[in-house]
Order: sequence, then C-alpha cells, then structure tokens
Amino acid sequence: MHLRLGFVDVVVAASASVAAQFLKVHDSNFSSRPPNAGGKYVAYNYHDIVFAPYGPRWRLLRKISSVHLFSAKALDDFRPVRQEEVRVLVGALASAKTKVNLGQLLHLCNVNALGRMMMGQRLFGDGSGSVNPQADEFKSMVVELLELSGVFNIGDFIPALESLDLQGVQGGKLTDIEIKALLLNMFIAGTETTPSTVEWTMAELIRHPMIMARVHQELDSVVGLDRLVSELDLPNLTYLQAVMKETFRLHPAAPMSLPRIAADSCEINGYHIPKGATLLVNVWAIGRDPNEWSDPLEFRPERFLPGGEKPNADVKGNDFEIIPFGAGRRICAGMSLGLRMVQLMTAALVHAFDWELADGLLPEKLNMEEGPGLSLRRMEPLMVYPRPRLSKHAYST
Ligand code: HEM
Repeated sequence: MHLRLGFVDVVVAASASVAAQFLKVHDSNFSSRPPNAGGKYVAYNYHDIVFAPYGPRWRLLRKISSVHLFSAKALDDFRPVRQEEVRVLVGALASAKTKVNLGQLLHLCNVNALGRMMMGQRLFGDGSGSVNPQADEFKSMVVELLELSGVFNIGDFIPALESLDLQGVQGGKLTDIEIKALLLNMFIAGTETTPSTVEWTMAELIRHPMIMARVHQELDSVVGLDRLVSELDLPNLTYLQAVMKETFRLHPAAPMSLPRIAADSCEINGYHIPKGATLLVNVWAIGRDPNEWSDPLEFRPERFLPGGEKPNADVKGNDFEIIPFGAGRRICAGMSLGLRMVQLMTAALVHAFDWELADGLLPEKLNMEEGPGLSLRRMEPLMVYPRPRLSKHAYST
C-alpha cells in the first residue's frame, strides 16, 4: 500500500512476502528510522538506539547493549533478579484480598526488574508488590512518551508546520527530571511491551479454559506443586511456548513495528519506492493474514506444535509471517530479555493460580478490544481474582 501524508511517501508492508522483501532482501536500504519529532525532542536529538541513524554510533550502542544487557551471559547473571521480582509479584497476588488490576502489577514487576538490571535498583517501592501511585504515574509518562515518539506528528510530514508545533510535542511537556527518570528510551521500549503481552496472554487463557488446563497440566508435570516455576524450566515448557507464540501472532505489542526510511530509491515487487519514503510494517495484519494462517482469528497454540500448520515458526525475525520483534538489522534490541520475561511471568501466573474474572464476568463476555496508540494495549484492563493453587510454602520461599 502506498500513501502520501503531507510531503512524505509512506509504504505499508502488510504481507509476509512483502515484509521479507523490505526487511531481508533490501534491509540495508531500510536500516534507519525516519526523522520524527519524538526522536528529536524526546530522544536527545537521536542520540539513542531507537532513533539513531544507521551508522557507527548506532552500531556502538547496539554492541554495548547486546554485550552488557542482552547477551546470554548477561541475561543469566541477572536471572536471580528477574526471579525475585516475579516471586514478589506472585506473593502480592497470593495475598490479594480483593480483585486486582493484573496489568498494573505486571507493569510494576517488569519495571522493577528492568530497573535492577539496568541501574541496580528498583524503581518503585520496597518490592512488597503493593500498587504504588508513583508507578502509575511512571506508566502514564511512558505511555505519553510512546505516543510522542510514534505519534502521527503533523510537522514530520509537512515541514513548514514543524515550528508551529500544533500538537505540543516540543513544548515543555517533560521536565529534565522526568526525562532523567525515564532514562534511556530502551527503558520505554521495554516497559509497555512486556506486561502488555502477558496481560493479553492471560486474557486469552481465561477465555479458553481448555488451553489454560493444558498449560496447568504441563507446569504441574514439569515443576510440580511445591515450588514456583523458574527460568530454567522454560525450555521444558513446550506448550507454554506455543501459547506465547499465539499471543505474539494475535496481539503483537508493536502492531506497526517502528518506522524505517528508504536511504535510496529502489524497486520492490515491480513498484518504485522513492528515496526518503517511510516504511511501516503491519505486523498485526501479517499475523492475521488468512493466506498464511488457517482460522486466523482463533487462539490455537497447537498450530505451533508438531503436526500443526507452522510447527517450526519462530518469532525471532526469521519467519516473516510472525515478526512481533521486527526483523533485520533494526530488530528489537531487547528481544532476548523480552522473550524470557514474558515466558517467565506468564508461566508463574498460570502455575501459581486459578483465575476468575472480577465481578462475576463470564469469560465469553470479556472485552478483547484494543485501545488506541502505538502499542497494543487492552481497551479495558484485565480485572481478576487470583486463587492460589500450589502448596502453601511455595509462595513463601
Ligand atoms: C514483548 C516484548 C517486546 C516486543 C514485542 C518488542 C518489539 C519491538 C519492535 C517491533 C521493534 C522495532 C523493530 C524493527 O524496526 O524491525 C523494537 C525495537 C526495539 N526494542 Fe523492543 N520489543 C519488546 C521488548 C523490548 C525490551 C524488553 C527492550 C529493552 C529493555 C526493547 C528494546 C528495544 C530497542 C532498543 C529497540 C530499537 C532497536 C533499534 O532501532 O536498533 N524491546 N522492539
């Protein structure tokens, strides 16, 4: 699809084969992000990983983060931190006296784990897991920043309007202190995506009790009922991994990925793509493409198991029909961490509890609508009662 927004050509890749043309065959030509008000005013004038133009600075930043934060060794070193934050989350849920807003607690757990991995300290609270107004404020700042970074900003498309700043992107929305508190945009990229993926998974599992029962069964046989699940168990949880893939297919946290720009003009599938065109990849539509997936709207993890339609598909940018983390040179820098976190959090929640929707809501009535914005948030938060199902001592160790 080709659009012209203001002075900018925008092409949208909405099928796996076209996405592969852009992100594999022509990836080197689409390795920078288009200039955007978010990159300029929020991301220290493109001095970050997400918006930095493809080149030596970007390469250095990627290298530093991939060695010190996201390599297998770095991730293994920080395993106890993630485990502990997840244990705190499970403890908070186990002692909840009323219904809980699951997304809120997931967000707190994720942000504290990120804070400890990146800065050596929790961002919020003492780790007791109690919901904290500062955490809510931080979350809304991140959401706002995500919106500012990816928003359709008129000045990006019609340069003459930039100085007018009609949408207030430049104007003192964030103080220095807030910007410092938000740290690097990496924090932002990792803050919304992970909990949102887990929240969608839990909503799907609650709506599909047979699938939930199968995950319970797998966890009970691999882990038992006397301890919490650990990251080391994850490779043995094949069905859970299929469940996660099915969530990534239907509910990709970045449904339009992040934009890229054509460094030079090129030809793709017989179409001329002009230099400077913005590329959007519709990851969401690709995951629901009926030419790729049978009954695409059905939540059916079995499709990723042996005998299913895509038993070998992975989500790491090799199989273009499911690319929640994007693909090519600018693929998500935090993919390895994101994958571990979503799997561990989901495994822990399913294993440790039976789940009931709040206020007697029937699972088939659960609202599965998506809210507006760059990230794929649920329109309505998931409100639930967790019912502990493991031996009592499993929650206290
Ligand atoms: C479920 C979790 C996540 C999803 C679905 C996700 C998705 C994405 C997507 C689609 C992109 C754009 C890729 C492209 O242009 O092809 C991206 C980029 C990025 N993500 Fe993630 N992400 C997740 C978690 C994380 C985490 C935990 C971090 C770091 C803590 C992170 C850091 C980044 C960074 C730094 C980039 C920019 C990479 C670059 O431009 O070179 N992400 N992510």
